[in-house]
Formats: sequence, structure tokens, C-alpha cells
Amino acid sequence: MTEVIGVILAGGTGSRLRPLTLTTNKHLLHVDGLPMICYPLECLRQAGLTQICIVTGHEHAGGFGELLGSGERYGVKLSFAYQEKAAGIADALGKVEWMAKGKKVAVILGDNIYEDTQVIKRALEGFENGARIVLSEVPEEKLYEPGFDKQPRAKYGIAQVSGEKVVNIEEKPLKPAKSNLAVTGAYIYDEHVFDIVNNLVPSKRGELEITDVNNAYRKKGMLTALRANGWWGDAGENIDSLHHAAELLRVSPKARELYHEMLNTKP
Ligand code: DAU
Repeated sequence: MTEVIGVILAGGTGSRLRPLTLTTNKHLLHVDGLPMICYPLECLRQAGLTQICIVTGHEHAGGFGELLGSGERYGVKLSFAYQEKAAGIADALGKVEWMAKGKKVAVILGDNIYEDTQVIKRALEGFENGARIVLSEVPEEKLYEPGFDKQPRAKYGIAQVSGEKVVNIEEKPLKPAKSNLAVTGAYIYDEHVFDIVNNLVPSKRGELEITDVNNAYRKKGMLTALRANGWWGDAGENIDSLHHAAELLRVSPKARELYHEMLNTKP
């Protein structure tokens, strides 16, 4: 396989975690003793990726440099890209085109935490072209919240699958959703992803949606999915999700140990 660039998307405003995010970046908040961004970084490292680009906004972005430096001490080469406005996940991805054009990318959201540290490694196995996403089943009672229009909506992108193939994805659909398979924040794309990103138009909530990127691949029959092993958490939703992710880690000694190994800290 040609070189794969790892990408961590850590822009956005962190508004749902105020006041904590008034003084630090959301992705530097600690989850069970480690800064949040260490979890996605470790998943990329476990996949053997050494070229990693972190996309950030301006909110307290200096902290990333203080924490991670050049990446050398973690065995990776870090670059940074700047997202001026929180214009959506796909917009953030577009900011790495300068270094990833013509290459495959393994993208992970800076606030997503997986029990399975090998999730990106597994997603890359046998990947040649098109796109691949990672799904996780969410119980009905945890699936919904009032959305941007105050209507009860799924908190996540929701997928329908037929075997490995993804046949439909909707971004935060109205209740009842067509399945309870959440699209988690890990995505593998081939070298054509930037052509798709550059042709997107903003959604009703005014963002360039990663779901529109995934749907562009789906329409070509080139979108496959795999399930996350174990639990998956979006730690950046709000203060409860931050605590919940920490609780999940506390009862997962194996995952915890692996994540701490990177920073040489003790769980
Ligand atoms: O967590 C999984 C979900 O993430 C998916 O199921 C949804 O399909 C996807 O849209 C996304 O939804 P969220 O509402 O959780 O996205 P959020 O705005 O919280 O952004 C998640 C991360 O993406 C955030 O930690 C940083 C990055 N991001 C986000 C935006 C809006 C950026 O880098 N730039 C941005 O402009």
C-alpha cells in the first residue's frame, strides 16, 4: 500500500465544554489522566503510521506543541494545519491537502476514544481504494438528544449496512433513526478524497459534513464499514461524556495500560 498519512482533527470551538474550554483546548482536557488527544494519536501509532498531521483552530493551540513537540519522542513526525473557522469536520480535513494530496489518509476525530487501540490498524487491513468507516452499535436509550433544530435527533451519523457495504448514512437523523449503528470518528480514504472535499457545499447547520464525503463514496459503491471492537466513546459531547469515557477506561485495564505506555505514565 502507498504511504498513508494519519490525520487528527482537533479544531472546533469546544463550546459544549465551556467553561473548561475557555482556558484550554478541548482536546487537551484530561480523560482518566491523559490529555484527550493522546487516545486518537495512539490509535494512529498502533497502525504504524509515522506521518501525522493535527488540524487545530486557534483556541489555545499552543498547548499541542507543549504536549507533543515534534512527535519525535513518540516515534512519529507531527505536522500541524490550521483551521481558521469551525466550518465542519470535512472542512478541517481539507486543511491537510497540502501534505496528503495524492496519498491515502487515516482520519480520526480528536475527541473519539476506542477501547480497541488497534481500530485504525484493522480498518487499514486490505484497504485499497474507496473509503472505509468504523461503526458502533448504540443502545436506543443513548442514541438521541435535541438537535440543532431542538427536535429529537440521533447524536451521531447513522449507517445502514448490507454485509460490509454501507447502503445509507444520515447525519444526525430525526428520531426514529433507520438503525442504531453510529458512525464513529475514524475514517479511511483513498487519494481522491480531496476532490470530494473541495466540491462540498455547506449543510443546513452551515458545516462541510464528513457524512457528505462518506455518502459521495457510498453513491459510487465504494464505502465499506467495520465494527469497533469493544466500547467507543465521543468524549467531547459534553461534561457527562467526558466523565463517561474516563469511567469506561477505568474498567478496561488492558486498553488503559496501552494508552499510558505511549506517554510513559502509569495508569
Ligand atoms: O463522534 C462521532 C460523530 O462525530 C459522528 O457520528 C458524526 O457523523 C460527526 O458529524 C461528528 O459529530 P459531532 O457532533 O460529534 O462532531 P463535533 O462537532 O463534536 O466534532 C468532532 C471533532 O471534529 C472535534 O473534536 C474536532 C473536529 N472538528 C469539528 C468541527 C466542527 C474540527 O476539527 N473542525 C470543525 O470545524
